[in-house]
Amino acid sequence: MSVSHICLSSGSVLMKDPQRVQEILQSMSKAGINTLQVISDFDMTLTRFSYNGKRCPTCHNILDNSKAISDECRQELDHLLKTYYPIEIDTSKPVSEKLPLMVEWWTKAHDLLVEQRIKKDELAEAVRESDAMLREGYELFFDRLHEHGIPLLIFSAGIGDILEEVIRQANVFHSNVKVISNYMDFDESGRLKAFKGELIHIYNKREGALLNTGHFEELRSRPNVLLMGDSLGDLNMADGVQDMKYILKIGYLNDKVEERKQSYLDSYDIVLVNDESLEVPNAVLHYLT
Ligand code: TMP
Ligand code: MG
Repeated sequence: MSVSHICLSSGSVLMKDPQRVQEILQSMSKAGINTLQVISDFDMTLTRFSYNGKRCPTCHNILDNSKAISDECRQELDHLLKTYYPIEIDTSKPVSEKLPLMVEWWTKAHDLLVEQRIKKDELAEAVRESDAMLREGYELFFDRLHEHGIPLLIFSAGIGDILEEVIRQANVFHSNVKVISNYMDFDESGRLKAFKGELIHIYNKREGALLNTGHFEELRSRPNVLLMGDSLGDLNMADGVQDMKYILKIGYLNDKVEERKQSYLDSYDIVLVNDESLEVPNAVLHYLT
């Protein structure tokens, strides 16, 4: 495959160094699919950013918009989103400055959700009634990985229980899929009492990866990685991979395109703009399998 094949996508495909992309692809192809693992972010990477001009929800937003929480809580969560999301995507602030604010956002949001004592059995309905959508071509993406026994790690700062429900309802929660995310902890009556384990937010995926050494140890024979994300924080998702050989990083640049283009080009091998599909990852996997 030449790099031009992956440029047939409907959105625009940008690369700072197409020659390097070509070389990585050739090396990965030569090494074979048995050496490949895929690590992907969830919100706004596997799910759509927008549909018909309207923003699609993140895992958190699925709950924010559901009947599982009160109107007052919805307003507070919306206020948090309006306060902190602009900070998340602000390129003028260094990560060191944004990090404590992101912890603040996640902590406040999770505290509000816990106060609502959400019922476990309300989650499926919240997902069913939401506007969440996996990107176009998702069946091919998930099914091909499953068919070839390629492990897919979904690494998300969203909510694990919601994320799993989204892929379950889409019939793509196959046995090769593993999830690292924030999971809800329910009491004996099935109501949310806390979130389990260490908080994963947008800028600590490195720490999250290093806490899951067992997973990466199991995949030691797969040193080549296809990484997919939409935030610069997602670049650290592969930090736990042992003896990594080749990595191809695909980044969805969904928002504030002009301001963020250069930093995305500097850190992702392939940058996808205005692309609501999985066409490019699918083309890469087609070539590699
Ligand atoms: P991701 O790691 O799967 O992309 O999930 C993180 C996204 O979740 C990030 O873009 C911000 C978003 N988010 C909300 O939409 N609402 C919230 O309350 C919080 C804490 C995060
Ligand atoms: Mg994301």
